[in-house]
Amino acid sequence: MATKPLIMKRLLTWAFALTLLALPAAAQRSQNKSTKHTQFVPKEVWTDTDGNAINAHGGGLMYHGGRWYWYGEYKVGQTILPSWATWECYRTDVTGVSCYSSKDLLNWKFEGLALKAEPDDPESDLHPSKVIERPKVVYNKRTKKFVMWVHAESADYGKAAAGVAVSDTPTGPFTYLGSFRPNDSMSRDQTLFVDDDGTCYQFASSENNQTMHINRLTDDYLRPDGHFVRRFVGMSREAPAVFKYAGKYYMLSSGCTGWDPNRAELAVADSIMGEWTVIGDPCTGVDADKTFYGQSTYVIPVNPRKGQFIACFDMWKKKDLADSRYIWLPLHITPAADATAVPKMEIPWRAAWSPSELKAGK
Ligand code: DGJ
Repeated sequence: MATKPLIMKRLLTWAFALTLLALPAAAQRSQNKSTKHTQFVPKEVWTDTDGNAINAHGGGLMYHGGRWYWYGEYKVGQTILPSWATWECYRTDVTGVSCYSSKDLLNWKFEGLALKAEPDDPESDLHPSKVIERPKVVYNKRTKKFVMWVHAESADYGKAAAGVAVSDTPTGPFTYLGSFRPNDSMSRDQTLFVDDDGTCYQFASSENNQTMHINRLTDDYLRPDGHFVRRFVGMSREAPAVFKYAGKYYMLSSGCTGWDPNRAELAVADSIMGEWTVIGDPCTGVDADKTFYGQSTYVIPVNPRKGQFIACFDMWKKKDLADSRYIWLPLHITPAADATAVPKMEIPWRAAWSPSELKAGK
């Protein structure tokens, strides 16, 4: 039988050995944690301030109280292709909408799930068996609420509805209010845009993704107010990302090829409801004709007065959606000689780039 001092000695030896084993993992964590990003590196794994891969797909950003917030689809687990599928409707279980915050757009702190799945309610849009895509959040100055709109789908992509949630704080938790078809029309890929006068609009791929609907919202941003227009009729535009520069409105969008990449397109309008005029593909460089293998999701108005914008794309991996990546690139604007004319807009490919490229206004 071992004596007391011997037992103590063995315990100490084990404790020491376990500490040694744990050290590399701890060192790795702290190394990741301290990794400060100084550049955008499209297509690579982008880690948050805890060293974990950022998980915010089909996302949108909001600036509030001196911080940027990034909301997106939180995709974990295996990609599912239901056996009954007649087309490639790959999806992951709904887990919720993630929220990250940052002051510099490069280094992001995970704030948790702003909108959580509802695994106990099979009828809920937020049940894991459903699909939640393209969350966008805006702040309503009148109601002082944060309002989130999502594309609320069934597993077979037949529901084509918009879901709405509200919160008192940017990081949530958001309360889900339910879903509906805006103006009784289908609503799939979607985004929100708040104009300078505080009016909010939802852009949604409607009519079986053939036509874009622009739905003006009520003052509380919770419903359409009934005024809407059909634009890009029969042009099959998806993934709308809307921004405003020098008094004109722009919509960056993709074609309609499921999770596979296609050519991007930029359109311009003098009034948000249109008429809209297609300018062409703003992407340049390697794989520009396939949007660099990405699909638009948002254009960040970093400093719109100075013409500083970042175009955000998702690089989907349809068979491993959780490992989908991000492609954030500078939007270069060259003003036309005639100030009322449409400026030249270009999204050049960059394997890596730093925010100073925006400041230089190249
Ligand atoms: C393309 C859309 O842009 C995505 O958000 C997603 O709905 C896929 N289609 C599904 O195939």
